[in-house]
Amino acid sequence: MTPDGAPPLREAAHNRRRLLMERSRPGREGVTLPASDAPPQPMPDAAMLRDGLELPEVTEGEVVRYFTHLSQLNFSVDTNFYPLGSCTMKYNPKVNEAVAALPGFALAHPAQPERQVQGALEALFRLQTFLQEVSGLPAVSLAPLAGAQGELAGVLTLRAALEARGEGRRRKMLIPDTAHGTNPASAAMAGFQVVHVPSDSGGDIDLGAVRAEADGDIAGVMFTQPTTLGLFDRNALEMCRVVHEAGGLVYADGANMNALLGRAKLGQMGFDVVHMNLHKTFSTPHGGGGPGAGPICVSAELAPFLPGPVAVRRDDGSYGSETPARSIGRVGGAQGNFGVLIRALSYITLLGADGMLDVSGNAVLNANYLLAKLRPLYDLPFDRPVMHEVVFSARKRPGATALDVSKRLLDHGFHAPTMYFPLVVPEALMIEPTETESKETLDAFVEALHRIDAEAAADESFLHGAPYDAPVSRLDEARAARRPELRWREPEA
Ligand SMILES: Cc1ncc(COP(=O)(O)O)c(C=O)c1O
Repeated sequence: MTPDGAPPLREAAHNRRRLLMERSRPGREGVTLPASDAPPQPMPDAAMLRDGLELPEVTEGEVVRYFTHLSQLNFSVDTNFYPLGSCTMKYNPKVNEAVAALPGFALAHPAQPERQVQGALEALFRLQTFLQEVSGLPAVSLAPLAGAQGELAGVLTLRAALEARGEGRRRKMLIPDTAHGTNPASAAMAGFQVVHVPSDSGGDIDLGAVRAEADGDIAGVMFTQPTTLGLFDRNALEMCRVVHEAGGLVYADGANMNALLGRAKLGQMGFDVVHMNLHKTFSTPHGGGGPGAGPICVSAELAPFLPGPVAVRRDDGSYGSETPARSIGRVGGAQGNFGVLIRALSYITLLGADGMLDVSGNAVLNANYLLAKLRPLYDLPFDRPVMHEVVFSARKRPGATALDVSKRLLDHGFHAPTMYFPLVVPEALMIEPTETESKETLDAFVEALHRIDAEAAADESFLHGAPYDAPVSRLDEARAARRPELRWREPEA
C-alpha cells in the first residue's frame, strides 16, 4: 500500500517492465550507422531474404532503460543476502578483481616460456602451498575447473593408486545418503559401483552400514565433511579407519571447507584426497555455471597420479610447471582456471592466517545464530549445533512448504535458500549465511521469515501464490530450463 492507502502502482511497475517490442513505435530510431567503408556486395538470392522482418523501432533512451531494467532483475551477492545452502554465496571483495586484472596475470599466456611468467607460476605455487597447509595433505593439483571436476579427477587419482597397488579390481564406492549429487555421478563416471550408505539417527554416517560394506571389493568412500546437513560428522575418523583397514581409500568432498579453515585438517582426519571449491570457500564469483576451480589435495601415495600441470619450485629458486610421473593426464587446458585461482589467492593473502580463523569462526557463528532465531518456526531434524549451514524442515505448517517460503522470500528481496536438499530431510530448507553477512542482514532475514510464517498462519493458501512482486511467478521450472521461450510473441487478443 502507498502512504495514502491507495493500492500499489502496478501500472508503473508494468510500464518499467515493458518488453522492447511493446516499446516499439513506427519511425523511432535509436542508432545512426556510419557510412559503410566496405565495397557494396551483391544481395543474396531473393529466396534467402525475409520479408517484413519485425524489429522494434525504439529510441536510444528506451533501449538503455530496457536493458538497464533487465540488468536490475539479476539477483547477486552484490544486491542482497543470498543464503543458498551448500553454494556458499559469500561476498566477493572487489580487490580480488583488481588483482586478477593486473597485466602480469591478465595478459599472461599459458604457452609463454616459463622465464617470462615467473610471477604467475609463483602465484600458483603459493596457492598450492597454502592448500597443502589447509588440507594437511602434501601434494596439490590446481588443474580441475570446478568442484564436480575435482571430484572426478580425485576419484580417478584414487583409482590409479589402487591400480598401482595391484588392487584395481576394487569397485565399490560408498556414498552417504546426504551426499551432493555430483559425488555419485563422479564415482560412476570413474567406473565405480555406487553403494549408498544411510545416516544414523543422529545425522552421522551409519558406521554399521560402512562396516558391512568394508570387504575386499571396497575401493573407498566419498564423504563430505562437514556434511550437507551442516553437521561435523562425529563418525568420520572411525569411518576412515574402517575403510583403510579394508584396503580402501577415503575421499573428502571439501566443498564446505569454510567451516574448517584454520581449525581442522581433513588430511589429519585420515582422508587421502580432498577437493576444495575455491569459488566457494575463497570468494570468487560463481553461480549460473560460471567459472570455478576445484583443486585436489592428496596424500604422498596418490601424488604421482595427480592431473597436470602442477607448479613447482626448482632448486635454483625458479618456478615451473610439471606433470607428475604417472599422472592421470589433463583435465582441462593450460593451468586450470587461472583467473579464479588468482582471485582465491588474493582473498587468502588479504586475510592471512588469522583471517582464516575469522572466516570459519564467523561462518559457524552466523549459521548457529540463524538456527537459534529460526527454530521456533521450523523443525530441526538433528538438534545439535551446526557448522557453516543449518538445515530445517518446513513441514510444520501446511500453508508454508519449503517452496512457498522460498518463493515468498523473493518478494522480500532475499534469494531463496536451497530447497529439498539434502534428500534425507523432508521439506528441507538449507540455509547458509556465510561469514560475510552482518547481524543486521541476518536479523532482517529472520524478520522476513517470521512475517512469512504469520502470513501462512493467517491464510493457509496465501503463500501458494507467491511471489507476488516478481516479473514471473510460479514457473514450470523444468520446462523453463529445458525449453525456454525466448522469442517475443504478439499477445493474443
Ligand atoms: C558439497 C558439494 N560438493 C560438490 C559440489 C560441486 O561443486 P561445483 O558446483 O563447483 O561443481 C558442490 C556445489 O555446490 C557442493 O555443495
